[in-house]
Amino acid sequence: MELWVVLLLFSLASPVIGDYEPTWESLDSRPLPEWYDKFKIGIFLHWGVFSVPSYGSEWFWNHWKDNSTGKEAAFINRNYKPGFTYQEFAPMFTAEFFDPNKWAELFQNAGAKYVVLTSKHHEGFTMFPSKRSYSWNSMEIGPHRDIVGELSKAVKEKGLVFGVYHSLYEWYNPIYLNDKSKNFTTRDYAETKLWPDLKQLVNDYEPSVIWSDGEWEAYDTYWKSTEFIAWLYNESPIKDHVVVNDRWGIGTYCHHGDFYNCQDRFNPGKLQDHKWENAFTLDRLSWGYRRNVDLQEVMTMEHVLREIITTVSCGGNALINVGPTKEGTIAPIFQERLLSLGKWLDINGQAIYETSPWEHQFDSNNNNTWYTCKKTKYNGLKPTSKPLETDVVTDIYAIVLQWPVHNILYLNALTPYVRDNYDMKMLGNEDLALNWKISNGMAAILLPDKARVRSEYAWAFRVVKKT
Ligand SMILES: *[C@@H]1O[C@H](CO)[C@@H](O)[C@H](O)[C@H]1NC(C)=O
Ligand SMILES: *[C@@H]1O[C@H](CO)[C@@H](O)[C@H](O)[C@H]1NC(C)=O
Ligand SMILES: *[C@@H]1O[C@H](CO)[C@@H](O)[C@H](O)[C@H]1NC(C)=O
Repeated sequence: MELWVVLLLFSLASPVIGDYEPTWESLDSRPLPEWYDKFKIGIFLHWGVFSVPSYGSEWFWNHWKDNSTGKEAAFINRNYKPGFTYQEFAPMFTAEFFDPNKWAELFQNAGAKYVVLTSKHHEGFTMFPSKRSYSWNSMEIGPHRDIVGELSKAVKEKGLVFGVYHSLYEWYNPIYLNDKSKNFTTRDYAETKLWPDLKQLVNDYEPSVIWSDGEWEAYDTYWKSTEFIAWLYNESPIKDHVVVNDRWGIGTYCHHGDFYNCQDRFNPGKLQDHKWENAFTLDRLSWGYRRNVDLQEVMTMEHVLREIITTVSCGGNALINVGPTKEGTIAPIFQERLLSLGKWLDINGQAIYETSPWEHQFDSNNNNTWYTCKKTKYNGLKPTSKPLETDVVTDIYAIVLQWPVHNILYLNALTPYVRDNYDMKMLGNEDLALNWKISNGMAAILLPDKARVRSEYAWAFRVVKKT
């Protein structure tokens, strides 16, 4: 047969839709888009009507209604008129100081490379003009603005990647509750609300992350998750660069998706064989803003860096959450943490961005020292694997979370590199020569005078072969 006939038959035989089938097996075979593995640091924003009471957490409405904590119901009784409804909070969601360009600049100065905003939390309020969320969206009530649209534009203009958090379920949506009461044998909510909303989000804002949540009451077959993701990968306008997490129905988390979130604040402390993300929040008690947050409930900078460094060493990304206020501001304490992080990344970023897990994740002699490395090749099917025989490792980074006593750092894993043809430098202080030698069978590094060191918190060392 002539080649062109074969080609013609082949193109007729294969449907024009893309390559992925709506099965987890097929979807899980997709290589991870490289940007996600390289960027490492994202900002997570929990913003919605729950930012108005800003008390307890973003679960305010649910905790009030089922009175599971007793706190929210008492708070309402004390502070609001009898018969007050959650819906009455919406007009108070004013966002009058919301300046998306200022936010985007803050996130860029924090060293973040991507930003994920709650487009809709479990309360069902959409932060974009959903055509199926009458009077319960940010365009019709409250801010009277398309928050997703404005932030997406500002974030992209700064060269950062934009993504959306999206809750599959809605606590009190009657269409959803009706499906649920029938044990999900009807699918009215999934078909008339969920899917059209998701498609509107994707088509109108082209987010590169779909961070799904609120999946746990029903199976993926009810949500039609695999069909949705196959559409995303095959046909959507974001098919080449979109990534999705793992919360797509009962039993999917930690098992399916481009990256795994597993539980909130997942940080296993050891290498994972699938790309993952540690989503954690600077206010340790809530994702949404709390007006009564106390300083000791806010993560310290040491804690923030420990989360990020241990996460990246083990193949994860860090998604750092702040809850904006109902006025559209970000509290100064969170700004301070984010800008301190940016300052640290300015000095030490090369040990974080575009790195891969190394042979060792932390040192066997000093578990406050964590490793990353740089390789010449990206492997989209196994982005978190240790360097293979075929990989060329160009740089090894050791990041020290605690300055050692007597200024001497003892590291087992670097012992084979204490040789004439290797060089070691402290990031930010490349001008200072470091003395290192073998002592008691391991690498002993004499650190410089701490007063001359630029980094305030964790200290990164780069080991390279001399050229
Ligand atoms: C909520 O729970 C508290 C105790 O936890 C109880 O005192 C209060 O009466 C309850 N309120 C309602 C409305 O059920
Ligand atoms: C509800 O549906 C699930 C699976 O679709 C099934 O395993 C379960 O037995 C059903 N429950 C009831 C009460 O029918
Ligand atoms: C780290 O090392 C210290 C001191 O040797 C030890 O007490 C601690 O349990 C270790 N932590 C982990 C997570 O291994």
